[in-house]
Amino acid sequence: MDKETFKKEGYKLIDYIADYFENTEQYPVTPAVQPGDIFSQLPNAAPDDPEPFERIFKDFDQVILPGMTHWQSPNFFAYFPSNTSYPSILADLLASGMNAQCMVWLTSPAAAELEEQVMIWLRKALDLPSAFTGVIQDTASTATLTALLTAREKHSDFQINKTGFQHNKFTIYASEQAHSSIDKAIKIAGFGVENLRKIQVDSSFAMDVKNLENQIVEDKENGYVPLCVIGALGTTGSTAVDPLLEIGTIAKKHNMWFHVDAAYAGTALLLPAYRHHAKGVDLADSFVFNPHKWMLTNFDCSAYFVKDTTSLINTFSIMPEYLKTGIDNEVNNYRDWGIQLGRRFRSLKLWFVLRSYGIKGLQKILQNHMNLAHWMEEQINKTEHYEILAPTHFNMVCFRYHQLGWSTEKSNDFNQQLMQSVNATGKAFYSHTKLNGMYTIRMCIGQTNVTKDHVIKAWENIQETTKGLLV
Ligand SMILES: Cc1ncc(COP(=O)(O)O)c(C=O)c1O
Repeated sequence: MDKETFKKEGYKLIDYIADYFENTEQYPVTPAVQPGDIFSQLPNAAPDDPEPFERIFKDFDQVILPGMTHWQSPNFFAYFPSNTSYPSILADLLASGMNAQCMVWLTSPAAAELEEQVMIWLRKALDLPSAFTGVIQDTASTATLTALLTAREKHSDFQINKTGFQHNKFTIYASEQAHSSIDKAIKIAGFGVENLRKIQVDSSFAMDVKNLENQIVEDKENGYVPLCVIGALGTTGSTAVDPLLEIGTIAKKHNMWFHVDAAYAGTALLLPAYRHHAKGVDLADSFVFNPHKWMLTNFDCSAYFVKDTTSLINTFSIMPEYLKTGIDNEVNNYRDWGIQLGRRFRSLKLWFVLRSYGIKGLQKILQNHMNLAHWMEEQINKTEHYEILAPTHFNMVCFRYHQLGWSTEKSNDFNQQLMQSVNATGKAFYSHTKLNGMYTIRMCIGQTNVTKDHVIKAWENIQETTKGLLV
């Protein structure tokens, strides 16, 4: 592609993205495709000869777009959002254009120093403890793995890195509602999932701390070495908040690493009214939240904060001759602050987003999401046969339809059918979990452009579909 074509097609693409962003609700949120539909439309080998951009783009429009789930649709209420914004998209375009590989300070001093400063901005914006230092990771899964590996190395005085495990007695603690990325990190870090203790939750799906302490004491009596406890600020199932202060106190008492997984709901701490959920976070050794979920910053961008940066760096540090720069002791070489060597220029989009919206602009958008979720909760509470199944702490509503006398099984089947039927309309997209064995529809209202109108229509759609299924 020559420069003129790049400019011509690039300008068109910006128009296309802007139109897409404004009009995403015109598309069915999830496509009506069957497995293999897209694959079978694609040639089974790359072309030998160059193809013009116009033809490639036409195929994108005709083959790929119809097979996409529209995460930016204001009718996307499933999972957690992955919302984005124009400044973030532009910053990522710039970062792609430069395509700097930001592994060490020297390979892009501005990228390293912007990352350092932007993470300070974020720490202050969320009112996190000043003892935290931030680094951008790709995902919360990686950040949690990073925390576990650092805890492991700090505990073993960095011997496991040298000699491997001398025993397999480490135990890790998280609630039974904690995210599966913890199970995965435990597998990768070599602890073995049998050594993950899933602690029972209370009626609000938050970790039961009595149970936590009993389990730690019992494990110690049996010769285990309790290493780390992970508290959730916003579980995936229901956005439950574990009692971080109590968990942190127990962790300190037993000399354990305390990691906070705030992957989704951490963004809510931008709003002072939601900061009580973080009470006790000053006891944490590490904390992660994902601007790529709810902070208008496109995927991927995970903010990891840690107190003991020396242990972090000692855990991951490598120094082959070809990477020595002569100023390594004076600068942040972020390749040593996590798993990957090569790193994208992710701080640029955070910088663009924080400056374009300002903290107040972001707060306004978040508050809108919270208000919409509480409006939805009110409708459910006042409508016969609909039930709220978990506290609405933030912008997610957990509910089901249930009639007196229905067995849990009947109710579960009905709600599964309800959700699948609504999803099949393409007018909205929800996902589910099970809470206390009950099939629970999760409605997370966090899209950049979602308005009350969308939520009203979504609620009408749910009620109409329910009626249709009952006849
Ligand atoms: C509470 C929680 N932790 C961790 C994760 C994993 O996030 P990531 O996709 O950034 O690894 C998720 C994803 O939804 C989550 O909800």
